[in-house]
Amino acid sequence: MSEEIAKVKVTIDGITVEVEPGTSILNAARQIGGDIVPPAMCYYSKLEGSGGKCRTCLVKVSKGSEKDPRPMPKLVASCRTTVMDGMEVENITSPEVIEARKGIVEMLLINHPLDCPVCDQAGECDLQNLAYEHGAEKTRYEFERRTFDRIDIGDKVQLHMNRCILCYRCTYVADQITDNRVHGILGRGDASEISTYIEKAIDNDFSGNVIDVCPVGALTDKTFRFKNRVWFTKPVDAHRNCPTCSGKVTLWYKGEEVLRVTARKDQFGEVEEFICNTCRYDTKKTNDWIIEGPTHIDHTSVISSNHYEMAKPLPVIQKDQLLIEANKVEFDRATKI
Ligand code: SF4
Ligand code: FES
Repeated sequence: MSEEIAKVKVTIDGITVEVEPGTSILNAARQIGGDIVPPAMCYYSKLEGSGGKCRTCLVKVSKGSEKDPRPMPKLVASCRTTVMDGMEVENITSPEVIEARKGIVEMLLINHPLDCPVCDQAGECDLQNLAYEHGAEKTRYEFERRTFDRIDIGDKVQLHMNRCILCYRCTYVADQITDNRVHGILGRGDASEISTYIEKAIDNDFSGNVIDVCPVGALTDKTFRFKNRVWFTKPVDAHRNCPTCSGKVTLWYKGEEVLRVTARKDQFGEVEEFICNTCRYDTKKTNDWIIEGPTHIDHTSVISSNHYEMAKPLPVIQKDQLLIEANKVEFDRATKI
């Protein structure tokens, strides 16, 4: 008979939740959801070993546990700290945490250019959101910023090293999802940079996933480059019978044209399932896909602020009787508007 594992209780910003022993504070907060979930720029639940690099997820542990109620002396990274029974944590209720987060954003922006108006990641950039919610209005940095020589890492992925925040997610993708990692972080301290060894192209079946996990615009899709702003495109969930991956994707339409294909993302901005390069780059016609309907946008996004789901249904949906029926609610709403 299997023994039931006793759960541990943790209280975050006054809300108590019971979780499995060994759960991190961040994942306990994700089980509660909403505003108390700390931001995470480097942790990625689908990538083993990720986290502990960016410090955006810092929280205050005001009570260590039931057995040892002493508070932890310093703020801790919630993605790397395990909950203890009776632990009490402060996130948005702690002015100390809010102040520290402001400092982290300031540090991340020391070298990150504010080139959002020309960056393809604008509108879906975690650093943009973080700076908006936690950043200061001005920079105090007066020194010259880092610059890098341009490196070509292949015909599909564009690297802008000056935007990289060294979160390591892309190297974990290459290590864990692809069979051949040819890039990594070279150098130390502020001389660290993402590079390919002997400038070899990143080219294997799952390499495109580095684009989806990159929290900023350091790795973007060359096939979508400068084609459109993300908020002018309409995301639609679709699938195909793919022998390599699950084939479940989001198609980003402009009119009737698919401008790019990405993996689907959950409410924490993480991909649900990694997709292969054939789905991402080689199948950009509507006929290649079985369309399920408009993507539900949970995550903070400029698209949700445009009430995308209330907008006019896509032309491709309007022509197909089956899709019209499947999207009846949306059609009725659009007619009223
Ligand atoms: S390129 Fe992107 S994913 Fe890779 S380390 Fe830099 S910020 Fe992270
Ligand atoms: S998300 Fe915890 S340190 Fe980056």
